Amino acid sequence: MCGIVGYIGNKNAYPILIKGLKRLEYRGYDSAGVALLNSKNELNIYKTKGKVSDLENFVADKDCSGTVGIAHTRWATHGEPNKINAHPHCSNSKNIALIHNGIIENYADLKEKLIQKGIEFKSDTDTEIIVHLIEYLLQKHNTNLLSAVQLALSSVVGAYAIAVLDKNNPDTIIAARKSSPLVVGIGEDEFFIASDASPIVEYTKKVIYLDNEEIACIRRGEEIKFINLKNIEVQHEIQEVLLDIGQLEKGGYAHFMLKEIFEQPACINNCMKGRVNVAHDNIKLSAVIDYQEKLVNAKRIIILACGTSWHSGLIGKYLLETYCQIPVEVEYASEFRYRNSVVGENDVVIAISQSGETADTLAAIELAKAKGAFIFGICNAVGSSIPRATHTGAYIHVGPEIGVASTKAFSGQVTVLAMLAMALGRSKNTISEKDYFEIIQELANIPQKMEKVLQLNEEIADLAKIFTYAKNFIYLGRGYCFPVALEGALKLKEISYIHAEGYPAAEMKHGPIALIDDEMPVVFIATNNALYEKVVSNMQEVKARKGRIIAIISEGDTKLNDIADFCIEVPQTLECLEPLITTIPLQLMAYHIAVCKGKNVDQPRNLAKSVTVE
Ligand code: AGP
Ligand code: GLU
Repeated sequence: MCGIVGYIGNKNAYPILIKGLKRLEYRGYDSAGVALLNSKNELNIYKTKGKVSDLENFVADKDCSGTVGIAHTRWATHGEPNKINAHPHCSNSKNIALIHNGIIENYADLKEKLIQKGIEFKSDTDTEIIVHLIEYLLQKHNTNLLSAVQLALSSVVGAYAIAVLDKNNPDTIIAARKSSPLVVGIGEDEFFIASDASPIVEYTKKVIYLDNEEIACIRRGEEIKFINLKNIEVQHEIQEVLLDIGQLEKGGYAHFMLKEIFEQPACINNCMKGRVNVAHDNIKLSAVIDYQEKLVNAKRIIILACGTSWHSGLIGKYLLETYCQIPVEVEYASEFRYRNSVVGENDVVIAISQSGETADTLAAIELAKAKGAFIFGICNAVGSSIPRATHTGAYIHVGPEIGVASTKAFSGQVTVLAMLAMALGRSKNTISEKDYFEIIQELANIPQKMEKVLQLNEEIADLAKIFTYAKNFIYLGRGYCFPVALEGALKLKEISYIHAEGYPAAEMKHGPIALIDDEMPVVFIATNNALYEKVVSNMQEVKARKGRIIAIISEGDTKLNDIADFCIEVPQTLECLEPLITTIPLQLMAYHIAVCKGKNVDQPRNLAKSVTVE
């Protein structure tokens, strides 16, 4: 939610800021703005409703000079997406500009107090209170900018990553964070700030990730200083980001989502690299080696996640219960954190998150950690908040995922969960030798089989054209493919805005069957596995009611040709690895339906990639 960029150095700030906003646009894209201090020390603030490209058009004939500036792309939480609510927000003296990512929960109280002191507000945002509060405190205590920011942040409750620019401190950017991400890039006589490293990597690989309640005081020509809200100076080691610019670009594909769907075979190889040995008969996860006792002795596993990551968590439950004999609960992080969750020292929590920044997942981790649980993270974004909050974990290593609809991260998460179930099952002796070797061998075959599924792209694109009329879709699967049905439905609704429901196939007769008529598309995941016959019976029930059936079937299965209206044949694999194969046609179908409907696939309406607010 919201992308923040800042620059101070010798170069023109504007092009760096705009390029940075484009890289961060996946985080929010309902409005955008920039604040620049020019050589005459004039503070120019430009904002528009819409995308970063709208901002670019808007400023085309304006003064965008200056070697220091901050910029923002918004995902509205408070106040509709319009020009007034767009960031940067400005103090009443017009001296201070501020951008913010997060939510100020006590903004209404603070706003009331400031209004009583005669301070005028222009926007409906929660953010605006911070800039007025800073200016008020500056004047009241006759203090410096850093102290005023410190004081202001001590009175706000909520989540923030902010950057502040002040006419009276023209060579300074003050940045701070709590629960929303912020990273500082350190170049040659120049500094960058951003919500993640993607706007920074083309200028420098040296970064520092701010911790909660920390402020970075960035002054031109000086060493950067970090100080916390308690006024204690903090030292940080510089880290190196291993991100390659090619990973941040579309590389010839029409959309990031399509590129990311096609990257899956390579991603899975990368994810297994160094973990599955060359002979394909052993799996080593360093976290399982280092924390073997904790994990082996777990009485229960609780998987916490949101959205697509929650779906992969469901697959994790099937894997871990089958091969490790540990009871597993899969919880929406947002629910877990707000009920009296019973969790303690004998529990292992597995937190799954692509971005590593999801606010609900992060808060749920903190809660479980405070109650003594051991926390294992499965994340993609290296150095993000969730991996830093966990005791141990495994990165999925699928590279940056930019399309808002998650695709390759799902495959990476399922792969790590499968490797975890194998490694832990082996340590616990709960997996047979036969299963262990067979699954590892087959894991190594998955990238090749994924390639075969990707060859169905054209066929699926044709199929998609037939279904653009649909207002609703039902997705049905059983066992390991029930979460696949959920994920297929989520993909479709996210990017095509078609209402879609995923159900365990057998649940259909308990209600959703009432929806079936000759217009209702029903997608079945009906591959050759232990539940195949059962799924076929469910399919017959739909057929009897004239539903339009699209079936994902195993290669060579001719039995379903008469029942299903359309069949998509995918390579056969072991049942526990089927999600890695059967999800891909559903990703492609959602993609092509959305393209046919002319929707913005990479930036669907109302969504954001990284949900750093509750
Ligand atoms: C997936 O397509 C979604 N956009 C969304 O559900 C996402 O999976 C969810 O917000 C969780 O994100 P995370 O994995 O970064 O924590
Ligand atoms: N709460 C702020 C607003 O609505 C920032 C939103 C965000 O971080 O997504 O403008």
